[in-house]
Amino acid sequence: AAIEKGGYDHFMLKEIFEQPQTIYDCLRGRLDAVHGNIILSGMNQYAEQIMNAPRIIILACGTSWHAGLVAEYIIEELCRIPVEVEYASEFRYRNPVIHKGDVIIAISQSGETADTLVAIETAKEQGAIILGIVNVVGSSIARKSHAGAYTHAGPEIGVASTKAFTAQLAVLTMIALKIAHEKGSINNERFMHLCKELADIPEKVALVLTQAEAIKVLAEKYKDATDALYLGRGYNFPIALEGALKLKEISYIHAEGYPAAEMKHGPIALVTDTLPVVFVATKDSYHEKVVSNMQEIKARKGRVIAVITEGDTISPTLADDVIIMPPADEIVAPMLSTIPMQLLAYYIGVAKGYDVDKPRNLAKSVTVE
Ligand code: G6P
Repeated sequence: AAIEKGGYDHFMLKEIFEQPQTIYDCLRGRLDAVHGNIILSGMNQYAEQIMNAPRIIILACGTSWHAGLVAEYIIEELCRIPVEVEYASEFRYRNPVIHKGDVIIAISQSGETADTLVAIETAKEQGAIILGIVNVVGSSIARKSHAGAYTHAGPEIGVASTKAFTAQLAVLTMIALKIAHEKGSINNERFMHLCKELADIPEKVALVLTQAEAIKVLAEKYKDATDALYLGRGYNFPIALEGALKLKEISYIHAEGYPAAEMKHGPIALVTDTLPVVFVATKDSYHEKVVSNMQEIKARKGRVIAVITEGDTISPTLADDVIIMPPADEIVAPMLSTIPMQLLAYYIGVAKGYDVDKPRNLAKSVTVE
C-alpha cells in the first residue's frame, strides 16, 4: 500500500497532488487552445441535438452534484440554455416533467451510483438524450448513456472525491465552451480567451499546491472548531458547498456551505468569535458583493479564512488568514479555489487523527438507494 500511495501518507493527499496531471490528461487531445478547437468525439453524434436543446437537466449525487451546480452557472452564462441541477435521488421519485429533446447530463465518478443510474433510465424512457460524464470506463452509467465524455482522472481510491471533481469541472467547461462556440452565443475572442484560460489550469493548480504547507498550519489553528461556515457566490457558491462537504466527510466537523448573501437569512445567527468562516472570494464579477459579506461576518467577530486572488488588497484587511490564488477567469476559477478546500479538510482530518481515506459510515460508491 505504501508503494501505491507513491510516497504520500494517504491516497487522498496523493490524489489532491495528482490534479495538475489529471486535469492535463482530461484536456489532452481534446482542447486545442492554439487553434481554438475542442474535440469531444463521444458526443459528435448528438452535437446538433445538444446545441439546440430546449433545456439541460443535470443529475448527480454528492460531490458530482456540486460539479453540476458549477456547470449550471457556466452553461447558462456561455450557452444561454436553461439548466436545472437535480439530486438524482429526488428526481427519480418525483415524476419529473421531461420533454423529447431535453438533454440530461449525468455526472458520476464511479458510474455506479444507484440513484443516478435509475434516474437516467427513467429519463431515457421519456425521450431525453443522456450524456454521461463518468470517470470509470465501462461503468453502468457510461454504458446506459447515449453519448458522453470520460473524465480520465484515473482510479480514485480516497472516499472523499478530489481529482474526479476537478476533472468533471474540466470536462463540463469544455462541453459548455464547445456548445457556446458552435451556437455563437459567445464571440470568437472570448472563446479563444477561455480556451487558453482552461489550458493554463493544470499549471495554476500546481502553483496553488505549493501552499499546502501553509494550509497545514491553518489546519492546526482551526482543527478544534466544532462548526464551520463556508460562503461563496456565483461560480464559487458550489465550491463553498463542496468545501463544507469535504470538511464534514473527513474531519467530522459540522460545516455548512451557503451562498454568501443568503447567510443573512439564518447562518449569521451562528457567528461568534469562535466560528471559522471560509470565504471563497476570488476576483470575479461577484467580488465586491462577497467582500461586503465578509465585512458583515467580521463585524460579528467571526474568524475569516479567505481564499482570494493575488493582488487583492482589500480582503486581507478583513480576513484572519488568506490563501492566495493565481489570477484566472471566473469560468475556470472553481478548479483552483476548490484545491484549498480539499487541503484544509485533509489536514484537519489528519490532525485529528482520523482515517481520511476511509471516513466512518461513508462508501466510495453508493450502489444501493
Ligand atoms: C459517495 C462518495 C462521494 C461521491 C458520491 C457520488 O457519496 O463518497 O465522494 O461524490 O458518492 O458518487 P459518484 O460516483 O456518482 O460520483
